[in-house]
Amino acid sequence: MRARLIAPGRGFEGVLVPPGDKSISHRAVLFALAAAGTSRIRNLSTAEDVVASLRFASALGASVVPGEEVVIEARGLEYLTEPSSVIDVGNSGTLARLGLGLATMVPGLSVFAGDSSVSKRPMARVIEPLRRMGAVIEARGGDRLPAAVRGSRLVGREFSLSIPSAQLKSAILLAGLGAVGRTRVTEPVLTRPHTEEFFSTCGIEFEEGFEGKQHVVEVWGGQTPRAFDLEIPGDPSAAAFFIVGSVSTPGSKVSVSGMYDGKTRGGFLEVLERMGASWDGRGASATRALEGTEVTPAEVPSLIDELPALSVAFAAARGRSSVSGAAELRVKESDRIAAVAEMLKNFGVEVEEHFDGFSVNGGLDSVPGSRTVDSRLDHRIAMSGAILGCIVGGETVIDGVETVATSYPSFFDDLTRLAGASVELIQTQR
Ligand code: S3P
Repeated sequence: MRARLIAPGRGFEGVLVPPGDKSISHRAVLFALAAAGTSRIRNLSTAEDVVASLRFASALGASVVPGEEVVIEARGLEYLTEPSSVIDVGNSGTLARLGLGLATMVPGLSVFAGDSSVSKRPMARVIEPLRRMGAVIEARGGDRLPAAVRGSRLVGREFSLSIPSAQLKSAILLAGLGAVGRTRVTEPVLTRPHTEEFFSTCGIEFEEGFEGKQHVVEVWGGQTPRAFDLEIPGDPSAAAFFIVGSVSTPGSKVSVSGMYDGKTRGGFLEVLERMGASWDGRGASATRALEGTEVTPAEVPSLIDELPALSVAFAAARGRSSVSGAAELRVKESDRIAAVAEMLKNFGVEVEEHFDGFSVNGGLDSVPGSRTVDSRLDHRIAMSGAILGCIVGGETVIDGVETVATSYPSFFDDLTRLAGASVELIQTQR
């Protein structure tokens, strides 16, 4: 599907209530599936990725009742049932990886497949540690979906991860819940701690701490999570698009209500403040054009999903901005370094690709009449292109725009309301 966006270029104004956080929503569904009892979840993300997690929970034996409050009833980890057909993870890398971890406890065979984007993403990073715990897994080329898991008894092990990845940490920790003995994960820096947050919510005994910058989590197997009652906070990764829009057009003011405010997700706010934006925990604005900045490798884990949105702020800023130590961007829903570079170039912005990042010479002076963005089946590229289109004003065409629903189904409603844009959706063949 194609979106034809016409924007007045008048900036962004109003109150944003971001959708339920996607990372927390996935885990809410997976922990409810693993728990014994009835869990009640409010403000669960309605993103297609999370709908795929709900289908996964049903396929493994939970009863799922949708609604304003989603009610999930399950019998505990020992009672997960073999799915009768292939699990379709859609576009979701999080479900693929965390699901592989949980499937190690399912008696019989669980087969995972997904769309053309997730089928290109590396899975060996999860499969290899799970195999070290005794899991029986086969994957296409050893590293890609489709993948099949045969449930077996795992043994807890110690892992020192070289990639900072919350998905990898979480897949191992979830498998550790069903393993014999202790599972210990050391990650190079603290990544988003939502799995550990659910351990606390669900009464799982675990320990965590720091060894220098490294973060260590230990969990003992044989524990069944307790059912829970939870309201999911708003998604900072969704709000980031409108916060960037607001601070990139001086005079704008977007207020954000109910957003998750943990530090591991707020790196993009620190970068924007460094560029001259003001953020008071609720409102985002700027009194003058932002200045370029350098995003360092140490910051990357706290803003990995926000780099496409930040690239829009870099394009609108004065001077040069750069990102390094972000090679993981190459294996997200698209090669986000290449996709960001292509998107910005189509807006006439000077950008250079590096193997582990990119640099941008800010300035939106020579924007051609109408520009086209190819989403590359990547929701965050499509939304970044739309925000940039609203900053510049005039017409922007976004191809493959249906991908926005994988994380933020109401994105275009919010865009229309906050930026005064009009959006025409056109069916195309892809
Ligand atoms: C996520 C972790 C991140 C992030 C993804 C969601 C999660 O991936 O990019 O969108 O929910 O754990 P990595 O942990 O692989 O970097």
